[in-house]
Amino acid sequence: MLQIVPSLLSADFARLAEEIARVERGGAAMLHLDVMDGHFVPNLTLGPPVVESVRKVTRAKLDVHLMIEDPDRYIPAFVAAGADLLSVHQEACRHLHRTLRLIQSEGALAGVVINPATPVATLDEVLEVADYVLIMSVNPGFGGQKFIPAVLDKVRTLDRQRRERGLALEIEIDGGITTQNLADAVRAGCDWIVTGSSIFHASDPSAAVAEMRQIARDATAIQV
Ligand code: DX5
Ligand code: ZN
Repeated sequence: MLQIVPSLLSADFARLAEEIARVERGGAAMLHLDVMDGHFVPNLTLGPPVVESVRKVTRAKLDVHLMIEDPDRYIPAFVAAGADLLSVHQEACRHLHRTLRLIQSEGALAGVVINPATPVATLDEVLEVADYVLIMSVNPGFGGQKFIPAVLDKVRTLDRQRRERGLALEIEIDGGITTQNLADAVRAGCDWIVTGSSIFHASDPSAAVAEMRQIARDATAIQV
């Protein structure tokens, strides 16, 4: 199902509950939380205690994006903290199949993420296992970067493969999404559109979510 997924990375962390209430008023039913370890990506963000606090102030699904080395060590703690969906990078997992199964056995949906330089073909053997694939449309580590349009070819490839193989796989995209490129992402086959700065740096984040939801709906209507 088509979703606009606000990324809390660009929210005001001193006022998280208010920021979340704003985007929920605009129609957001899923929230994206970026976990960075200063090793896999050159930045640090948040851990399970923040996820646990967010869990207490919203009924939205919590989509936790792990940009960390050795994610297996932390998966149980993030699910216990309230993550409904948990994604790991293909580039960070030595035993990707086992890691996806670990997420599912802890009780969350399992996603696999690929960086802009990583081909979709590296996921061939896990597409039956993963619940969703996240295609990065920027190099991970920071909010507010410029969208890399070439990744839309990877979305199209994956969309074709899931149809050919009859897979119930959702496709998520993350990075540099604006009102200008959102329709292209939806038409390429994305179901879940993560967007941080376009929402939280807007003068009215509620209205920004509502506007993006409308653009996404219009884009699917054109596609049919
Ligand atoms: C980047 C993060 C993104 C980030 C997107 O590493 O994974 O989720 O919040 O922010 P924008 O939408 O500003 O590119
Ligand atoms: Zn992210």
